[in-house]
Amino acid sequence: MKSLIVIYSKTGNTLSVAQKIKKVTDFDLEEVKAQSDDPNIAKPELIYKPNVKPYNHLVFASPVHGFSLSRIMHAYLKQLPDLTGKTVDLFITHYFPYAWLGGNHTLKQMKSLVEDKGGRVMSMTSINWKTKKRKDVIMKMIENYKAEAKI
Ligand SMILES: Cc1cc2nc3c(=O)[nH]c(=O)nc-3n(C[C@H](O)[C@H](O)[C@H](O)COP(=O)(O)O)c2cc1C
Repeated sequence: MKSLIVIYSKTGNTLSVAQKIKKVTDFDLEEVKAQSDDPNIAKPELIYKPNVKPYNHLVFASPVHGFSLSRIMHAYLKQLPDLTGKTVDLFITHYFPYAWLGGNHTLKQMKSLVEDKGGRVMSMTSINWKTKKRKDVIMKMIENYKAEAKI
């Protein structure tokens, strides 16, 4: 199985989790880039769109912005080609104390965008950057990938 992690990260939190996954797996890691990082731009112009075609397993990750999926990741997922036959994991990082303050909605948005393209979502993880549990949540996700990598 060939796996690619595609993230958008404005301040580095999402990127740091993706790098931890990459360290223990053979997953590739790429970042979506927009012409401007301003989260308020309604229709961001993407200047780098990682190519998912060679991969059969994808991990998409994004921060929560304004109780929703970051607009840059939204624009990226929206323009993806057909994902039929590909499995997809999702994770988000957020700061507010409860997942219902944006995290759950963001994961639902991502799931819906992926399923619109025919992808099959296998797991969704919400990482609250503010809590002590953060490390455990990240560790559990990484352990799962590590275990899969050994199979
Ligand atoms: C413009 C902006 C809006 C944000 N809105 C929310 C929000 O609605 N809910 C939340 O829990 N965190 C919110 N955050 C916090 C980020 O989701 C959180 O810090 C995340 O881990 C940042 O990820 P990154 O470092 O990969 O960009 C917001 C951050 C920014 C910069």
